[in-house]
Amino acid sequence: MSNCIIAPSILSANFAKLGEEVDAVLAAGADWVHFDVMDNHYVPNLTIGPLVCEALRKHGVTAPIDVHLMVKPVDRIVPDFAKAGASLISFHPEASEHVHRTVQLIRSQGCQAGLVLNPATPVEVLDYVLPELDLVLLMSVNPGFGGQAFIPSALDKLRRVRERIDKLGKPIRLEIDGGVKADNIREIAAAGADTFVAGSAIFNAPDYAEVISRMRAEVAA
Ligand code: DX5
Ligand code: ZN
Repeated sequence: MSNCIIAPSILSANFAKLGEEVDAVLAAGADWVHFDVMDNHYVPNLTIGPLVCEALRKHGVTAPIDVHLMVKPVDRIVPDFAKAGASLISFHPEASEHVHRTVQLIRSQGCQAGLVLNPATPVEVLDYVLPELDLVLLMSVNPGFGGQAFIPSALDKLRRVRERIDKLGKPIRLEIDGGVKADNIREIAAAGADTFVAGSAIFNAPDYAEVISRMRAEVAA
């Protein structure tokens, strides 16, 4: 796959030196920065918000920042992330009262919009809204924590969503998030993903460049 995107999740980075960690992972060949926002309400964990996104931009990060909102409600935080420099903003349909309206809000703020499907969320949630999306993010773990094991049913779901995207014929990215490693990324790519979030697999490794290039080689194999 020629247009494979690797998006390290900074959830597993060392927050005490986040700027350096992001610089390092981008220098190691990452394409996007995956930015996990958790609110201790929609998901049982609490992480980072727009201030940190803005700080990364001020630090000099120019790569796309891929904001994954695990917050409820969604809408009131969207303009803050757009101002803070988010490139893409994805949200969970269960966390929005009006999914179509939230998609429009994200796009009206100048960002690309993504919808996130939890492991038990049926693909039918994409009915009527898929043409409005820039990205579909499939969770292959339950949201809230890094370092969990990949849920195998995500492979079948990837195939089903890939079919829908191809049928529509629009350049919508298909991103996978949770438990992605160098040793399973090949079958994940074969199932249809083109954008790969990996947190612990990259940040817990001694050599970021080595893991990222191994992941790319597996996807291309
Ligand atoms: C989980 C987050 C993921 C997580 C991935 O809620 O959305 O982005 O950080 O971490 P790994 O790759 O360790 O499963
Ligand atoms: Zn995520």
